[in-house]
Amino acid sequence: MKTYQIGIVGYGGFGKFLHHWWNTLATVKVAAASDGRFEDELTGEFRKYNKWEDLIADDDLDIVSIATPPAFHVKIACAAMRSGKHVLLEKPVAITVKEAETLRQVQHETGKVIMVDHMLRYNPIIKALIKLSKEETFGKLRHAIVSNYAQDESLPAEHWFWDKEVSGGIFIEHGVHFFDIINALTDQKFTKVYGASHGRNEQQVDQVSAMVLYNEGLIASHYHSFSGPGFFEETTIRLMYDLAKVEIKGWIPMSGSIKVLANAATREKLNHIPGLKIINAEQISGLVDVSRPEGWGDTSATDNVSIKAGGLDYQADEMISAEFEITQSKSEIYGHCLKSIIYDLITKIENPSHQLNVTLDDAIESLKIAELAEKQ
Ligand SMILES: NC(=O)c1ccc[n+]([C@@H]2O[C@H](COP(=O)([O-])OP(=O)(O)OC[C@H]3O[C@@H](n4cnc5c(N)ncnc54)[C@H](O)[C@@H]3O)[C@@H](O)[C@H]2O)c1
Repeated sequence: MKTYQIGIVGYGGFGKFLHHWWNTLATVKVAAASDGRFEDELTGEFRKYNKWEDLIADDDLDIVSIATPPAFHVKIACAAMRSGKHVLLEKPVAITVKEAETLRQVQHETGKVIMVDHMLRYNPIIKALIKLSKEETFGKLRHAIVSNYAQDESLPAEHWFWDKEVSGGIFIEHGVHFFDIINALTDQKFTKVYGASHGRNEQQVDQVSAMVLYNEGLIASHYHSFSGPGFFEETTIRLMYDLAKVEIKGWIPMSGSIKVLANAATREKLNHIPGLKIINAEQISGLVDVSRPEGWGDTSATDNVSIKAGGLDYQADEMISAEFEITQSKSEIYGHCLKSIIYDLITKIENPSHQLNVTLDDAIESLKIAELAEKQ
């Protein structure tokens, strides 16, 4: 595999983080970066451009990574593809669906590969759950609850994050990560979106909530706040399947727990979840269904392995409680995701029939949900 030359447009907090992790790969080299704060400097460890137009005109680059604030994403990505570069675009793909559609058009015209950095799909816990969920290992996914309590200490009132014209607002700037994950866990399509929000003042809308309904009954509720101290920062994703309750912890998912009604096939598949440790396993035949209080008809132990849920029949013989945890650090896992997505993009460049783990269409789908939530 050749060494791909990358140029990063937007060399702020995240642009530098991308550089840090891609530096550890042999298949890519960050050869240039552009930022409005740079003076042009075409020698040194990497070429520095003040204007992004000069970076995308750099003939030695194969891939342009765009890590500017969201409002600039589409213009720079379209220009990069038109100047013959493949693109890794930061999320959100755009701040409006209309703008995002032009990316599809330019991608079609130029034939370049474009990916959007929904890097959470490469997190080992999320990846395993997407696979198990799509295979309906735990039956139907009925309810998803995303709760994200984020800090705002590093987001002063004048930060672009609070300016909807630049960021699109919390649903678009941040919520898209989680709309995308829930979309990835199911083959269902969203049908309705309800949104609500609260601002501490006119500019700083710091709490948002959305309910997303899907065509086969999945209801997802999303809450994001950027209004607390770092000490209380907490993100959880709870997933309620017919046969399992899953809780995933961490904005970069690092650990969690699962309680599952299992059969032999499920037990085998549970091993896909990284760092899984079984805490308890009991035969269902010995368990009492706690939904019916004592004295209420028949509360005797279940005598067979047939489970009914949502009008469907399942087979299970064991109730398993387990915990899972990734042993690497948060930064290493984040880095793993960023390396995996660039590797996915390069594989697609080399082999056009390669199926990307996350596509432009996926990114636009999550933006559609975010835009509908934002409009309300
Ligand atoms: N995928 C992820 O996990 C993840 C994580 C963090 C941030 N992001 C995304 O990365 C992007 C940047 O976020 P950040 O936190 O690094 O912001 P930031 O403010 O730290 O950095 C943005 C940089 O872009 C530069 N810039 C602004 N406009 C520019 C332009 N027109 N041309 C060239 N440079 C320009 C700024 O000078 C700044 O250095 C956002 O889209 C954000 O959503 C993604």
